[in-house]
Amino acid sequence: MFVNFRRIRRCQCVQLMTTCLVLSVVMVCWEQLDNGVVSHVKSYSYRYLVNRFTYINKSLTIPREQARSFSNFRYLLDHPDKCANKDVLLLLFVKTSPENIERRNAIRSTWGNETYIQNELGVTVKVVFALGALQTKKDEPSWSKRSGVGFQEQLVHEDRLHGDLIQQDFLDSFHNLTLKLILQFHWMHSRCAHARFLMTADDDIFVHMPNLVSYLQDVSSRGISDFWIGRVHRGAPPIRSKDSKYYVPFEMYQWLSYPDYTAGAGYVVSGDVADKIYQATLTLNASIYIDDVFMGICANAIGVSPQEHVYFSGEGKAPYHLCIYDQMMTSHGHVEDIYDLWKAATHPQVKQRTSGLLGRLYCTAVKMSLLCKPYYFNTYPCKAAFL
Ligand SMILES: *[C@@H]1O[C@H](CO)[C@@H](O)[C@H](O)[C@H]1NC(C)=O
Ligand SMILES: *[C@@H]1O[C@H](CO)[C@@H](O)[C@H](O)[C@H]1NC(C)=O
Ligand SMILES: *[C@@H]1O[C@H](CO)[C@@H](O)[C@H](O)[C@H]1NC(C)=O
Ligand SMILES: *[C@@H]1O[C@H](CO)[C@@H](O)[C@H](O)[C@H]1NC(C)=O
Repeated sequence: MFVNFRRIRRCQCVQLMTTCLVLSVVMVCWEQLDNGVVSHVKSYSYRYLVNRFTYINKSLTIPREQARSFSNFRYLLDHPDKCANKDVLLLLFVKTSPENIERRNAIRSTWGNETYIQNELGVTVKVVFALGALQTKKDEPSWSKRSGVGFQEQLVHEDRLHGDLIQQDFLDSFHNLTLKLILQFHWMHSRCAHARFLMTADDDIFVHMPNLVSYLQDVSSRGISDFWIGRVHRGAPPIRSKDSKYYVPFEMYQWLSYPDYTAGAGYVVSGDVADKIYQATLTLNASIYIDDVFMGICANAIGVSPQEHVYFSGEGKAPYHLCIYDQMMTSHGHVEDIYDLWKAATHPQVKQRTSGLLGRLYCTAVKMSLLCKPYYFNTYPCKAAFL
């Protein structure tokens, strides 16, 4: 009896201790888990159940004179005749910063080469770079000081060679990205309003131009309007943690979730949407500095919603494989490898090896093994394997 009793006590004790241990581990982790889980549950409920995004539109509408302060910056570099007398299929803005000259040169000689696009694909695509200014001497990067040439003069020189920089005199910084977005829509409105599509892209992105062009030609021939495509974020909650790059204070955005928007890495809108977005920027408070979220707010105000395309990546990177190259549109995070990727992705072999019944079967198997993983892997979604 006595022994049994003690054994039971010992078992209970072990049980109790294990329970305590598990509980304390959960408690420690919970604090982090909690914020993420709770804010996502809230934002999804808001997005799918309450969905009063009309309040957002109403409370961010400001008088036109005040909205003008977000757009009336002087052009330091401009090309008003860039699109004149041309049937432009796509106006493509690359968001770049003054110091990223190597990225711009890489784009110019790979996917953004207008001559190549004109000769090989038979359409006019205009690729321009949107940037702000470095305003103070101390902002100048060290290599610019070393070479002894003023930084703006180097940009002027670069622009004289290539004629593709569009620059306004706001400070080029992360928190001014929304000003850069507005610059793009205003520039299109006044200089290139007849372009059939507008794309905005990061300068570390890879665009499979031949795939994109044939896709847009198809969309255009079907006369589709209200078109906005990319990697869609639905019901994303504003980040309230001050440590985050994407921190947004309550005063700036007070609701539980953002309207749907596409990842800023690269998305495309049709000309009619671009014009309506331009109109929306004339009356909205653009102080929210996450540019893709502001795009979502503008689109919400004009009643346009984004569509998902599985081969547009957000933060994700495409796997390197010719079965992927056959269908990819954009892939994020390419700087050094952009020349090799361009060569590989546009090689005639890609079309040969992926066509026919055998080619398609082979590629479905390959894409399943590359995209459908049991753990999170930042690339195209699994369903892209079956397209
Ligand atoms: C763009 O392509 C053309 C023809 O395909 C080529 O001659 C030219 O060198 C390329 N431009 C750059 C900057 O690489
Ligand atoms: C944005 O640009 C304006 C105009 O140059 C500047 O006054 C402001 O400080 C910049 N804001 C940020 C957050 O960099
Ligand atoms: C725009 O919103 C900011 C808060 O994000 C606010 O401080 C500012 O006063 C608003 N501007 C106008 C003109 O209402
Ligand atoms: C957004 O607000 C503007 C002006 O207040 C209004 O004309 C427009 O219809 C609103 N959009 C939506 C989708 O409610």
